[in-house]
Amino acid sequence: MRPVEEAARILRSGGLVAFPTETVYGLGADASSDEAVRRIFAAKGRPADHPLIVHVASAPERWAARWSPEAAALAAAFWPGPLTLIVPKAAHVSDVVTGGEPTVGIRVPDHPVAQALLAAFAGGVAAPSANRFGQVSPTTAAHVAIELADRVDLILDGGACAVGVESSIVDLSGDAPRLLRPGGVSLEALEEALGAPLAIGGSTRAPGTLPSHYAPRARVLAVARGDVERTVEREAATGARVRELRLPADPAAAARALYAALRELDEEGVDVAVVALPEERGLGRAVADRLRRASAPRPG
Ligand code: TXA
Ligand code: MG
Repeated sequence: MRPVEEAARILRSGGLVAFPTETVYGLGADASSDEAVRRIFAAKGRPADHPLIVHVASAPERWAARWSPEAAALAAAFWPGPLTLIVPKAAHVSDVVTGGEPTVGIRVPDHPVAQALLAAFAGGVAAPSANRFGQVSPTTAAHVAIELADRVDLILDGGACAVGVESSIVDLSGDAPRLLRPGGVSLEALEEALGAPLAIGGSTRAPGTLPSHYAPRARVLAVARGDVERTVEREAATGARVRELRLPADPAAAARALYAALRELDEEGVDVAVVALPEERGLGRAVADRLRRASAPRPG
């Protein structure tokens, strides 16, 4: 059986499949099976009230109670692609998927393997990023295997993710559209498609919006470019193993490289990584957001 067919069979029987998307790898289960979806939370060690995104290849509006003109405009402009829309959920969408929320996150991913899987399965696939809760999102099949090999029935290998940071999340369930998480579609592009400015921030429920997330073991110090050198010197003076984390100057290339670079810090046993915050434009906004979260104080 071809891997994609095998993966669809596993989803139909209630199993877990890790699959590539253009953003990061996802840990998927049949969105219409509560039992299967609960396995995702168990495998990730994720709290049950953190909602999952439903991935579909077509007919996204089937998962929504209401499909607004804003939803139609953003879907037309960016799907398939690195955008998740939060909309009022259709009655058939389970509370297990939405973490008890009256809304659901929907995304049509743009990756040939994800598309083939969704087409073969012919249903919605609930999937968070395929990492243990609080860890750095995986951008290769090898990253997934390190954390989840014994907790997932199959890992589909689609190579390194082309975008490298998670989807942008736009909440369309309130009075005005809000950007809950900057990601693979830039704020500028979203505002252009909406023809209006987008409010930023909102829900504190989304784990991707917790202050400390996407965190490697190493302490990350994200500072202005001009402060990198003196920060490295200051930290080195304490005897810690310090290294500058250099990201490509091009924001899209920086996004692509970011998570693998964070994982490398831990492989190298670095104590402190100093990294220059990119400009808050285009994909630079998502990169800066993830660097700030990686550098936020965390418990333990
Ligand atoms: O690029 C991505 O979005 C990747 C790939 C696999 O699609 N997925 C991903 O999923 O990053 P996850 O679960 O790691 O992050 C999804 C975020 C979480 O912060 C979750 O709380 C939020 O989306 N979310 C999902 N449904 C929501 C809802 N109904 N209301 C508010 N936030 C929601
Ligand atoms: Mg995640």
